[in-house]
Amino acid sequence: VIVLFGATGYTGRLVAAELARRGAEFVLAGRDRDRLRQVSAAVAGGAPVEVAALEDPASLRALLADQSVLISCAGPFTKLGEPLVRAAVETGTHYLDSTGEQRFMRIVFDRYGEAAARAGVALVPAMGFDYAPGDAIARLTCEAVEPVGELLVAYSIEWPGMSRGTVASVLEILSGDEVGYSDREWRALPPGWGRERIAFPDPVGPRTVVAYPAGEVLTVPRHSDVRTVRALMDTRAFAPRALAPLVPAIRPAAARVLRSRLRGPVERLVAKLPEGPTLEARQAAEFRVLTRARGADDGSAQGGVRGRDPYGLTARLLAWGAEQMALPGYDRCGAIGPAAAFDPAELLDDLADLDVSWSLDGDRSAIGAFS
Ligand SMILES: NC(=O)c1ccc[n+]([C@@H]2O[C@H](COP(=O)([O-])OP(=O)(O)OC[C@H]3O[C@@H](n4cnc5c(N)ncnc54)[C@H](OP(=O)(O)O)[C@@H]3O)[C@@H](O)[C@H]2O)c1
Repeated sequence: VIVLFGATGYTGRLVAAELARRGAEFVLAGRDRDRLRQVSAAVAGGAPVEVAALEDPASLRALLADQSVLISCAGPFTKLGEPLVRAAVETGTHYLDSTGEQRFMRIVFDRYGEAAARAGVALVPAMGFDYAPGDAIARLTCEAVEPVGELLVAYSIEWPGMSRGTVASVLEILSGDEVGYSDREWRALPPGWGRERIAFPDPVGPRTVVAYPAGEVLTVPRHSDVRTVRALMDTRAFAPRALAPLVPAIRPAAARVLRSRLRGPVERLVAKLPEGPTLEARQAAEFRVLTRARGADDGSAQGGVRGRDPYGLTARLLAWGAEQMALPGYDRCGAIGPAAAFDPAELLDDLADLDVSWSLDGDRSAIGAFS
């Protein structure tokens, strides 16, 4: 049975609906029984509900006892996520989550990886839009030219309006303490995040991107032979078009604010935001992920993923991944990225009916080009 914790949130409800659509056997879990029952009746076909508290480890262990997979959608993860990871390892339950917070991913890898490997449990953080398609196309691109000198991963997205939970996670990401990967070591990202231009395929076109603490920086060196990974993000992912050019300049100031006493008022403002975008807005949100691997000796390979609706995609990936992990033959373990936990081409192909396509060193007009 699959346990979905954080089922009452914007993303959790999408995952619950997707699990129900697939006919999965699952339990909705969280801290509020009434809200869980409402979700069960509204979108999850009457799935059973269980209450457990993050502050009560025994309740989490009881929730997971004898279950096969835990999906966590309770964020921001840097604040809330760790008790569930610990309980998953202690009870021998495979684990997936929707985090996009690199700092939390580091906690999973550094604190729980070895114990998970000993327990025969797979811990797979960031199995959503952040960063599963990117990790999968990065693996396929690296595979073509390994050993890799430098891998670039570049994202373009104009958000349809983030969910309240995503904005709360962005506050965590902007607070700093994030890393890049160069010369085979994880190192602190410089505060300004730099900037450069990338030509994404039409209709996106050229965009200004900044260095970004994406998850691939952590996952790719764990599954591919790579010396340096650089992750880049379209400035329009952070701000409306007119304000996007200011992003590199205001980012260090934002980090200072979020580390000061102003953080409390900022969080209270975020709590008042609308819960998340409508289905129409989500489907209008197009994204691109470009990858380019330069071989350490010679040659290069380039890949690309294009699609829409990052929230629908996240729900699909989490439900699909949980089903794969629940199969009797699933044998991967330790803290691993999506492309190490699943076959990367199968992962991407499963998204085809959601209008996601990918390509490797094929049609450059579909992929775009690094300038
Ligand atoms: N990787 C991606 O592409 C991607 C996509 C979507 C979402 N996300 C991430 O997923 C997370 C959730 O996003 P969202 O929009 O669904 O947020 P949300 O609507 O605010 O939902 C948060 C969930 O966490 C639960 N929760 C909060 N505090 C809790 C606590 N102390 N104890 C137990 N449960 C608690 C909430 O339960 P209550 O209802 O009881 O408050 C709710 O179920 C965020 O971190 C977001 O960044 C990532």
